[in-house]
Amino acid sequence: MTLFKSLFSATALAATLFAASASAEGYPERSITMVVPFAAGGPTDTVARLVAESMSKDLGQQVLVENVGGAGGTLGAGRVASSEPDGYTVLLHHIGMATSATLYRKLAYDTLNAFDYVGLVTEVPMTIVARKDFEPTDLKGLVEYVKTNKDKVTVANAGIGAASHLCGMLFMSQIETPLVTVPYKGTGPAMTDLLGGQVDIMCDQTTNTTKQIQGGTIKAYAVTSPARLDVLPDVPTAAEGGLTDFQVGIWHGVYTPKGTPADAIAKLNASLKKALTDENVVARFAELGTAPSADADVTPEALKAKLEGEIARWKPVIEAAGQYAD
Ligand code: MLT
Repeated sequence: MTLFKSLFSATALAATLFAASASAEGYPERSITMVVPFAAGGPTDTVARLVAESMSKDLGQQVLVENVGGAGGTLGAGRVASSEPDGYTVLLHHIGMATSATLYRKLAYDTLNAFDYVGLVTEVPMTIVARKDFEPTDLKGLVEYVKTNKDKVTVANAGIGAASHLCGMLFMSQIETPLVTVPYKGTGPAMTDLLGGQVDIMCDQTTNTTKQIQGGTIKAYAVTSPARLDVLPDVPTAAEGGLTDFQVGIWHGVYTPKGTPADAIAKLNASLKKALTDENVVARFAELGTAPSADADVTPEALKAKLEGEIARWKPVIEAAGQYAD
């Protein structure tokens, strides 16, 4: 009996190893799901759909974006953390992957041990924007106005841990004024309410605000980049507007569940690299105020180092603010 059992377990193990290695060799044999942890139509979704379209062509299989919004991006990240590590589910997420590790003390996943890494994608500047008819005409006027009307002014964000939440938190701490925040499942739906005048201000990425600012359908007070953006030459930097320590860049990365076959990760990484040199992707990123990450950063090692460094950077800032999601 013992011999049979050990033979059986050896056969089962061999079959499993063969299946895993075979799937990696033929990978991808079917469509891949790219989870975006925010609602459709927002900045993360915009970046993901451009990258996914290019990767689909390269891999010969559809890379299908699935929006799993809620809880500042942690629901979508948790969905990927608990997915089969077979290379057919990936996550495209941003700085919120790092801030949520401290903001959410009961996360459904262990941020530094639940994922493997494919590579960095892009770092997107932010803009401080308002509904078109909002009274203040510049950043200094906005700061004065919100200080005087702090109980009235509403600030949209995509939930605790989102980039818009982080930027809004920095804004409120810089002006030493807490404001009323209105959470959404993403800044796509938040933009709808800003355009409709249902919410007053928001700090959001240029991948979601550039076209609206250029079209005059929302008001822009500042960009959070070190210098003005070519696509928004008339929008001053936050520093020009008096917020000197207010530079915010939203980096994005692609992750897989921990244990994804190395061959599959290598194919995903090669395809991501190609997508980030795809002339359509580069052109669309540029129109939206951003650019692909440098080739040397589109690596698993660079993304791992970025995530670890950003968790360490934001942990004391969040703990000092004492604001947690749970
Ligand atoms: C989004 O894609 O909706 C945004 O990235 C949400 C946020 O992080 O503010």
